[in-house]
Amino acid sequence: AVRALVPAAHGTPLVIAHRGASAYAPENTLAAVDRAARMGFAWVENDVQRTRDGELVVVHDETLARTTDVEERFPGRAPWRVRDFTAAEIATLDAGGWFGPAWAGARVPTLAGYLRRVDRNGQKLLLEIKRPELYPGIERDTLRVLRAEGWLDRDRDRLRRRLVVQSFGAESLRTVHREHPGVVTGFLGAPPVAELPAHAAFVDQINPSHTAVTPEYVAAVRRLKGPHGKRLRVHTWTVNDPAAARRVAAAGVDGIITDRPDVVRDALARP
Ligand code: G3P
Ligand code: CA
Repeated sequence: AVRALVPAAHGTPLVIAHRGASAYAPENTLAAVDRAARMGFAWVENDVQRTRDGELVVVHDETLARTTDVEERFPGRAPWRVRDFTAAEIATLDAGGWFGPAWAGARVPTLAGYLRRVDRNGQKLLLEIKRPELYPGIERDTLRVLRAEGWLDRDRDRLRRRLVVQSFGAESLRTVHREHPGVVTGFLGAPPVAELPAHAAFVDQINPSHTAVTPEYVAAVRRLKGPHGKRLRVHTWTVNDPAAARRVAAAGVDGIITDRPDVVRDALARP
């Protein structure tokens, strides 16, 4: 049901719900995944980091302070870094109350739990390995969880259609590509045009901030082929207003990452 609602016409940028439908539900929670599904959006983006005891969890900031009640619950543990807490401790935090009382009780998902929910909803995942420099080996950890949850055991086409792993860390993506070449990868940033061919050896997407998107840059990316022999794609972030959505669509991007997927969808439907 979700897939049928996603704009799929050739030339219409894919709309991806950033941290889930994060304007309408607390970011990076299962509630934000479900909210995107109910709004008809198949693709969700998330951020993956690692706990002190090696569990992968879905949270954006390097610390838990902004999006959980960690300061009240663990007052002596400043600066409340994700990597200084165990998975069991993080599982007790409220990751929804900061967004609004109706969301109190939402949890910081484990990556495994997040994948199950995305799968159950029939959705697709743009998974960001966040701050890989802080978490040596997180690429293999991520692939291990994906494999354990059955995401890597499927045929290549199916894998390509439902998972992209992206990061600001080029070395991280090189590792993911080397360890599991079937996984589609996306580099977050806008490398100079001269450096694009080197990236095309191990990434399938160049995903720049919308401030870096011009028709010329998008065309330069799309002229190249990635490691799977398909042309490189461009997914841009974080576009939350109609005028910006129309501008990047006119520049030729393949996807738009947004906190407000409904706003972007409407903007593209009524140019
Ligand atoms: O999906 C791209 C975008 O999420 C990158 O920035 O800080 O929101 O993770 P950030
Ligand atoms: Ca992100």
